[in-house]
Amino acid sequence: MTAAIQYHQVDAVIVGGGGAGLRAALQLAESGAEVAVLSKVFPTRSHTVAAQGGIAAALGNVSEDNWLWHMYDTIKGSDYLGDQDAIEFMCRHAAKAIIELEHFGMPFDRLESGRIFQRPFGGMTKNFGESPISRTCAVADRTGHAMLHTLYQRNVKANTQFLIEWFALDLIRDVDGDILGVIALEIETGDIHVIQAKATLLATGGAGRIFQASTNAYINTGDGLGMAARAGLPLQDMEFWQFHPTGVLNAGVLITEGVRGEGGYLVNSDGERFMERYAPSAKDLASRDVVSRAMATEIKEGRGIGKHRDAVYLKLDHLGEEIINKRLPGIREIAKTFASVDPLTAPIPVVPTVHYMMGGIPTNLDGQVVMHDGQTERVVQGLYAVGECACVSVHGANRLGSNSLLDLVVFGKAAGDKMACDIARQQPHKPLPAQASDATLARLQRLEHASSGESVSEVGQAMRLSMQKHCGVFRFPELLDEGVNQIQAISARAQDLRIQDKSKVFNTARVEALELDNLIQVADATMRAAHARHESRGAHARADFPERDDQQWLSHSLYHAQSQRLTYKPVRLQPLTVDSFELKKRVY
Ligand code: FUM
Repeated sequence: MTAAIQYHQVDAVIVGGGGAGLRAALQLAESGAEVAVLSKVFPTRSHTVAAQGGIAAALGNVSEDNWLWHMYDTIKGSDYLGDQDAIEFMCRHAAKAIIELEHFGMPFDRLESGRIFQRPFGGMTKNFGESPISRTCAVADRTGHAMLHTLYQRNVKANTQFLIEWFALDLIRDVDGDILGVIALEIETGDIHVIQAKATLLATGGAGRIFQASTNAYINTGDGLGMAARAGLPLQDMEFWQFHPTGVLNAGVLITEGVRGEGGYLVNSDGERFMERYAPSAKDLASRDVVSRAMATEIKEGRGIGKHRDAVYLKLDHLGEEIINKRLPGIREIAKTFASVDPLTAPIPVVPTVHYMMGGIPTNLDGQVVMHDGQTERVVQGLYAVGECACVSVHGANRLGSNSLLDLVVFGKAAGDKMACDIARQQPHKPLPAQASDATLARLQRLEHASSGESVSEVGQAMRLSMQKHCGVFRFPELLDEGVNQIQAISARAQDLRIQDKSKVFNTARVEALELDNLIQVADATMRAAHARHESRGAHARADFPERDDQQWLSHSLYHAQSQRLTYKPVRLQPLTVDSFELKKRVY
């Protein structure tokens, strides 16, 4: 059934057309490289478009600021699992990255002074934790939308090629372990393509769709992680998933932290502003893991709101119509559409909802994918990763809001620069291995001959429910034991799925089955890494090990899918140019 394979050669192939992929592509295209961005959706529909509240940088437009304060906040926010060299790199380059975006044409909101508008966000503080600071630059509550469209238009101008509605299936790896490009499915025709490249970048975003309740788009299926795992590469820190405190109850849609940045706050069924008890100083602007645990505790102890007492209220009516319409117009629309409330007059029912994957494919500061053998780290030649699918690691065990858009542009640019340099050094393309696409074709064949009668949605739903129940805001030993076994069993079921539609052309059922392979890789890595980490750190909160344990666990996990084994590597505590920030108990 599979048509003849079509072969292409480019300097660089980028899988994913979101903020990270487009920032890297721009750097490459402007350097004169021939770059193809392959995306399963039209690039401006990538999930970056959904980012709301903003992008952090110590510009100091509202009050004095310093990138070192931002660095401190990010390290503390990460619960000390973030690598201090990578965090320094990101925070030092933040202001330049924002000015660059402004010069690309990104329409930032403005202060009266004409400078870029900045708002407070969780965990962002002045003078090493003293008090909240306005550091997050924004375009109302549609910052990702503005950024993605700006980057897309710059890429069109720079002659980046786009392969739209192409779905990347696998990496091509030679006997030395070097990556030589990707194999992809053209969704419209069903044709298979081999794209041979001197540099391959994974920028496929997150995988929040492993959970039942998620702020993530349906496209967030961990495709880059699945490809990396099938190529024998490890996945780092997969136990750390961020639950955003304010997802709309029963809908999962994001309500930006910018609401709390503008002065909104959470209340329980007694009308109490409960965050004052959990984070006396930062209150509603504590880091997300802290706020989500507080909300889960309020709900568990019977102070939830609504018929099932399974949410809390986000109150913002006191902000007034002008602020809401000017700074939070999208939120007002979302609240009306998904919660049937107008926040001008009524609070929004919200629950902690899966939002962001702190782990991913391990990389160095140049975006090169790295392997760690216990002692030393070596680069996987030809392969790079940036954005949410990568783990550099700037977010550690918990990301601060508005640091993800920053991560995309800072490391997107760095990876683009490094790829351009590596491409210039490597003249002819390395020869493709003879059997480059065999394993991928076998996977497609398996789908054509499936017999079990189970559909993708049945098996996918089993995975999502299992993840939601067994790997939530708080994690329990018996549930984790059970979860590991359940995901293993679900993984076996996914080997024999029924695809009723056998057509080749625009067969979205087949694409969903292929996406499920990737999701299950991520779910398995998550559950096993969470099961193995016997401490609580950042977003990983174990009921049986409630404290952080720096003696035993100040290390990154590496999950090896083929052996289903976990190994660990040390956190990099030494920054690039400044003194290391010492480990402290994290209080807000
Ligand atoms: O709340 C938000 O606007 C989300 C921002 C982020 O995840 O960085």
